[in-house]
Order: sequence, then structure tokens, then C-alpha cells
Amino acid sequence: MFLIEISNVSKKFSNSTTEIDAVKNVSLKINKGEIFGIIGLSGAGKSTLIRCLNRLEEPTEGHILIDGVDLINLDKKDLRKERKEIGMIFQHFNLLSQKNVYDNIALPLQLEKMDKAKIDNRVNELLEYVDLKDKKHSYPSELSGGQKQRVAIARAIANNPKILLSDEGTSALDPKTTKSILNLLKKIRDELNITIVMITHQMEVVKEVCDRVAIMENGQVIEENTVENLFKEPKTKIAKTFINSLQGNIEDEIIHPNDFQGKLIRLSFLGNSAKKPIVSKVIRNFNIDINILSGNINKLQSTNVGHLVLELIGEDEEINKVFLFLKNEDVHVEVI
Ligand SMILES: Nc1ncnc2c1ncn2[C@@H]1O[C@H](COP(=O)(O)OP(=O)(O)OP(=O)(O)O)[C@@H](O)[C@H]1O
Ligand SMILES: [Mg+2]
Repeated sequence: MFLIEISNVSKKFSNSTTEIDAVKNVSLKINKGEIFGIIGLSGAGKSTLIRCLNRLEEPTEGHILIDGVDLINLDKKDLRKERKEIGMIFQHFNLLSQKNVYDNIALPLQLEKMDKAKIDNRVNELLEYVDLKDKKHSYPSELSGGQKQRVAIARAIANNPKILLSDEGTSALDPKTTKSILNLLKKIRDELNITIVMITHQMEVVKEVCDRVAIMENGQVIEENTVENLFKEPKTKIAKTFINSLQGNIEDEIIHPNDFQGKLIRLSFLGNSAKKPIVSKVIRNFNIDINILSGNINKLQSTNVGHLVLELIGEDEEINKVFLFLKNEDVHVEVI
């Protein structure tokens, strides 16, 4: 069974003059223990969708099942209970500035009316877990962005939730701090078995920690894929754009098929096929010349994925044989 089932969720915002379909008929199923990414450009509907997951936003239509329980059918009291299973972090941390680190983390436990000694134990345990023991008495204004997010994470997992939602949790951080927060999130998933749904507009984040990803555009999910397959065979143009942005790759701008006589192809290979001497095999076995135009490799969670853009110069018949050969070697070929 899936831990989270979003089925046919839509959200309309309307006022007297306009109507906005922020989320349109989205269905997603997320496994327990998964880190699931939702990526999209600004305004795509990501925050609205993730806020529907804990009913911070009421969906206009659809159902949200958490461990089989439909949140939409719950009354206020039961919803409050179910919400304890869902922690959330934000881009701008949302800490209480007049409270110190200890009290920020203690807050959800106080709301649960936990007794003082237990709260003290739990907060100290959490401070240790997020590596902030020495900041216990500091105020948010005295912390760096990364430290603030660690406090927010400790607060979000204080009640042992099943799910952690992150709405651009690393977007305000520099690359090195982003990495350390992503490592903390991975640790939380691995050790505490908390399922994480992360919204981001950074492909770097998806590459670094996600198992699967949904791409949103204009309120809709237009592609759902494993991160491996997203890199190997992106289905949509926007997915390709996100991947290119990651590689700092200006391939699309500088490689125009019309500028070349031969056939331009982009090869994508995963894991083991990335280690084989594919190009030299092609040159040796077929009557063909090859011009290498660009290449890169990305390290994903589970494997590596490589891309090569080649110009093949030779007879069509020979080129077709090359395509067949590459397919048998488990290399994905796209003609540009
Ligand atoms: N409370 C609201 N009232 C009216 N319109 C809203 C409201 N919240 C969001 N919208 C609109 O819904 C659409 C989706 O917004 P949303 O914040 O979900 O996008 P997003 O993908 O999170 O963007 P960003 O990456 O900039 O955070 C936008 O057109 C936005 O203007
Ligand atoms: Mg947003």
C-alpha cells in the first residue's frame, strides 16, 4: 500500500473577478520511505499542492489518503490528530524569533501537553540529532540559514511524524549548506524511516536525494519518473531543460543540427553501460566517423548517468546498424 495517495486533486482560487486553477487534477502515489521530489517553475502550483497534503489548503476537488485515511473526510479534531503525522519545513524557516532554539523545538511538544521532563529529554535528543547542541540558548537571529533550517527540521520531526514535507527547504541556502541539509534529510529517511516529499526548483536537489520525481507545469503533473529514468530518457521538454540547467550545459544554444553534415545523436547511458568503451567499439566495428561534440556524467543516488552528443558521419545504412548496436548495449539514443 502507498503511504500517500493523492487522487484527482484540484485547487481553484477565486475572487470576484478572477479564477486561478493552481492545481489541476493531480494524482500521485508515494511509497513509504521514499524521498519524492516535485519540481517545476515558479507558479507551477507546487506549494499549493503540498499545502493540500496536510489541508493547510483545502482542495477544491479530490482526495488525500495518508496510510489509507482520507484527510478530506476528517473533522477538525481528527484532522489535528492526523496532522501530527506530517511535519513541514519552509524556505524561510518560519521560526519564532522571540523564542530561543530550545523553545522553538519544544513548541510542538508543549502543544501535545507532554510533561516537562519528557520535553527536556526529547529536545536534547533532537538537538543532538541535528547537531546543534551548542546553540540551545541562541535566538534565530543569531543563527546562520543552515542552522535555522536544522532547528526547523528538529521542530518538524519532534512528534515523530510519518511524513516530512519540504517546501523549497534548501532554496535560501548556499550550495555547501544545501548539501549538509540534504544529508540530514537523507539521514532522517534512512534512520527514522520518515517519508519525505520535497518541492524544489533545483535539479541539483532532485539529483542529490530524490528517488522519484513529478514535474509540474501550469498546475498539472506532466511527467512522473524515477530519477534514473528522468536523466536517461526525459519525456518532456521541461525535464530536458531542467537537466541541461544542472549541467550548466548550453548544448541547445551552441549545437544546431543544421550546422553539421552528419547525423547528430545524444546518447544516454546508466550504470554499467557508462563504463563500456562504446565509442571505440562503434568506430572499430562500423564504417563510420565520429565527432564528439559534448559529454558529461552525473552522479545520482543509485547510479551514474552519462550523456554524449556525437556527430555520426557515414552511409545511412551503416548509421542504422550503429543504432541497433547501441540499443543492444542498453544505450538510449535520441536523434537531435
Ligand atoms: N492564496 C492564493 N490566492 C490566489 N492565488 C494563489 C494563492 N496561492 C497561490 N496562488 C496562485 O496559484 C498559482 C500556483 O502558485 P504556487 O504558489 O502553488 O506555485 P509554486 O509552484 O509554489 O511557485 P514558486 O516556485 O514561485 O513557489 C499561481 O498562479 C499563484 O499566483
Ligand atoms: Mg512555492
